[in-house]
Amino acid sequence: MPVRINPSILTADFANLASEVHRIANSDLIHVDVMDNHFVPNLTFGPRMVESLQAVSPKPLDVHLMIDDVDRWAPDYAELGAYSVTFHAEATKDAVTLARRIRDIGSRAGIALKPGTPVDPYLDLLAEFDQVLVMTVEPGFGGQSFMESTMPKLRALRTATRAAGLDIWLQVDGGINEQTIVTAAEAGANTFVAGSSVFNATDPAAQIELLRAAAEAHSH
Ligand code: DX5
Ligand code: ZN
Repeated sequence: MPVRINPSILTADFANLASEVHRIANSDLIHVDVMDNHFVPNLTFGPRMVESLQAVSPKPLDVHLMIDDVDRWAPDYAELGAYSVTFHAEATKDAVTLARRIRDIGSRAGIALKPGTPVDPYLDLLAEFDQVLVMTVEPGFGGQSFMESTMPKLRALRTATRAAGLDIWLQVDGGINEQTIVTAAEAGANTFVAGSSVFNATDPAAQIELLRAAAEAHSH
């Protein structure tokens, strides 16, 4: 099955992002982690940075918002043209209204769940979203270990999307490498974010192909 490999630039060299994104031009989308030092204890980019990066990126941007008050801020990322805008379920007052706004502006709408956030309340609402991001680490930092305890959420999502005949991207983010990608693919993921495993590799483009082959062999 075709899969998507979306490298995260969180582990890239922030002083040279324009050249860093060209090292991963064989990716599907480029994952950009926006953090505000409130929702997570780390700080990265804002909308101006994302807009500048988008102008030089060889691939569309998959924006992952790890910020508070997404009802106020997420539409701005859609307005600037991000291909997909994923907000956290824990940070919105009304996920469906926000997803509709993002879609109306023209971006794909994604909802993200921290490891401790249950998926059940969203299983009947899946038609409102283009992608669901199951966090496989606590959000905030690259280089953490994959939490296998999150896999039942993917299995539930896969069952629900199949039953409803929905083509929703099921995304995992955190601790994805050649081994854990197999576990996630078997559980139902088809879209994979990988930061340190790509950017700490000597050849990031070759690492993307390695991850892609492993995921394709095990997705179903
Ligand atoms: C973590 C971010 C991830 C991060 C993943 O909160 O959302 O996108 O870059 O990094 P790795 O792949 O190193 O776990
Ligand atoms: Zn992310």
